[in-house]
Amino acid sequence: MLRSHTCGELRLENVGQEVTLTGWVQKSRDKGGMLWVDLRDRYGITQLSLEEGVSDPQALTLARTLGREFVIKATGTVIERVSKNDKIATGDIEIKVTTLEILNPAKLPPFLIEDETDGGDDLRMKYRYLDLRRSPVRKSLELRHRMAQQTRSYLDGQGFIEVETPVLIKSTPEGARDFVVPSRMNPGEFYALPQSPQTFKQLLMVSGFDKYFQIVKCFRDEDLRADRQPEFTQIDCELSFVTQEDILNTFEGLVKHLFRTVKGIELADFPRMTYADAMRLYGSDKPDTRFGMQFVELNEVVKNKGFKVFDDAELVVGINASGSAHFTRKQLDELTDFVKRPQVGATGLVYARVQEDGSVKSSVDKFYSPEDLQQLAQAFNAQPSDLLLVLAGGADRTRKALNELRLEMGTRLGMRDKDTFSTLWVLDFPLLEWDEESNRYHAMHHPFTSPKPEDMDLIDTNPGAVRANAYDMVINGVEVGGGSIRIHDRAVQSRMFDLLGFTTEEAQAQFGFLLDAFEYGAPPHGGIAFGFDRLCSLFGGADSIRDFIAFPKNNSGRDVMIDAPSSIAQAQLDELQIDVRLKK
Ligand code: AMO
Repeated sequence: MLRSHTCGELRLENVGQEVTLTGWVQKSRDKGGMLWVDLRDRYGITQLSLEEGVSDPQALTLARTLGREFVIKATGTVIERVSKNDKIATGDIEIKVTTLEILNPAKLPPFLIEDETDGGDDLRMKYRYLDLRRSPVRKSLELRHRMAQQTRSYLDGQGFIEVETPVLIKSTPEGARDFVVPSRMNPGEFYALPQSPQTFKQLLMVSGFDKYFQIVKCFRDEDLRADRQPEFTQIDCELSFVTQEDILNTFEGLVKHLFRTVKGIELADFPRMTYADAMRLYGSDKPDTRFGMQFVELNEVVKNKGFKVFDDAELVVGINASGSAHFTRKQLDELTDFVKRPQVGATGLVYARVQEDGSVKSSVDKFYSPEDLQQLAQAFNAQPSDLLLVLAGGADRTRKALNELRLEMGTRLGMRDKDTFSTLWVLDFPLLEWDEESNRYHAMHHPFTSPKPEDMDLIDTNPGAVRANAYDMVINGVEVGGGSIRIHDRAVQSRMFDLLGFTTEEAQAQFGFLLDAFEYGAPPHGGIAFGFDRLCSLFGGADSIRDFIAFPKNNSGRDVMIDAPSSIAQAQLDELQIDVRLKK
C-alpha cells in the first residue's frame, strides 16, 4: 500500500512512529512559521504539521501550494499535540512531516466538502462523487452496507437462499408503469424491467426452493417523492408451506435483528391493527403511531343542531390535540390554511378550546349551546387546555385530510422524534379497490394476492368487500414493507384476473407461464418485500431515501451527473428499428 496507516487510526500510543499517510487535503493553515494540513480519508482526519527551519524546506514549499482536495502522500513522525482536539479521534496527535508528495492536484470543488455544506441539492447531485466524500453521506452508505450484511446474515441463518432473478423480463404489475427496453434481436418487441421479482419468486416456490430472498433492484416509472425513486432496492422474500402468522413472525424477527445489531435497540413485539381500524382511527393505512391523537367520529354528537356544514357532511371527525388550547388565533388560521391546501383538500376547520374552568369555546359557538359543546368535549374525553380540531365532508376525503392535519400537529407538537421507533403491522387489506377513472377494480396489493378464505363467498356478490391475506409493516408512519399470502390455485388465479378485467386470452398471454406453473404442483406460499432504501433512511433518521442511495435520480427521474436519460444515436435507433417521432 502507498500508506502505512489510515487517517483515522493513529493515537497517543503511536507517538514516535514513522508513518506514511495518504488522503485529501481538507484544509491547510499557514501561520508563517508553522503550517498545518488536515488530511482526510474515509476513516477520519489527521493533522500534519510543518515548521519553518525544522521541516525539509522542499516539503514546506510544496505544502504551501496545497489547495483543498489535493490528493497527497505525507511521511513523518507521530508526535503528541500541544493543543489537543477532542472533536476528532486522532485529536491527541499530529504528524511532523518529513516528506510530502502531491499525488494529484484538484480544482477548487464547487461546494464545501464538509459535514455542513454550502452546496444546494442540484449541485451536490451533479458532483455526487464529491458529495460522497462528505462524511454524513458516506456514513449513510456505510449504514446501508451494515444493514445489507445483517439482512443476509439473519436470512441465511433462517435457511433462506439468495437467488438472482432476471432484469430483462415481461411486465409484472405492481401498480406503476414499466420501464421498457427495446430488443434488437426481436424488432418491435420490448422487455420490461421488473417492478419487483414477484412472479419469479412465486415460480421459485413451485420449483421447491422453499425459502428465497434477494436484495434486488426494482424499477417503477411513477411520480417521485422523497421516499420514492424510479429504481430502488427491495429485500424480497418468499416462503412455502407457511401461514400469514409464520411470515409476520419471521420478518418481525428480521427487523428486530436489524434494530438490535445495527442500532443497539431492542424492539418490543409489533402491535397489529386491521386496515379497517387504521383507516377509522388514523385515516391512513400507514399511521404514525409515535403519538396517539386518534380520530373521534362525531356524527352522533354534532348533527341536527342547525350547522349546515356538519348536517350535510357524510362524516364529521376530529382529533384532540391535548394541551394545545393555547394555540393563538394566528396559529389556528395557519392550520385552517393548511387543511384547505389542495393536497389536503378540506373545506375548512372547526376548532374548540377547553378552558381552564372546563367550559368550551369554539369557532361554531353560535350553532351550539354550552351543553352541546360539553358533549363534544366528552366525546373526545377532553380535559381543560385541550384543543379539538374537527373536519367534515365526504368520509374518505375527510379522513385523508384529518390524517394530514394529525401528522402536522404531531410535528408541531414535537411528537415525531426520529430516535423513537413505533412499529405496526397493518393486516386484512381489501383485496380490490375501485378505480373511478378506469371504472373497474384494481388489485390493492397485486393480482397474485389471495383472498381471505372466509371472504371467498363474497367474491361474486360483493368483490369490494373481500379482504385479502395481505399485510404491511409500518414504522413511524413509513410503509417499510408489504406482502401477502398468494393464490396457488389456477382456477382462483384465473377468477382474479377475470375480476380485474382481463379476458382469458389476455391473462393467458401475460401470465400464462404462472397459470401453467400452478398446474404442476404449486405449494401454498406467501412472502413480503421491504423497501430497503426506506428502511435505511429510517434507521439513519432521514426523511429522504436519496442519501442512502449512492447515485440517486432527481425528482424528474434524471441522473444529472451522467445526464441520463439522453437521446441515442440514429444508428442505434436504426439497429433497433425504432422510429422516434416526438410530439411537439
Ligand atoms: P410493494 O409494491 O408494496 O410490494 O413494494 C414493497 C416495498 O417497496 C418499497 N417501495 C419503494 N421504495 C422506494 N421507491 C419506490 N418507488 C418504491 N416502491 C415501493 C416500499 C414497499 O413497502 N412484490 C410485492 C411484495 C410482495 O408481495 O411480496 C411488492 O413489490 O417500502
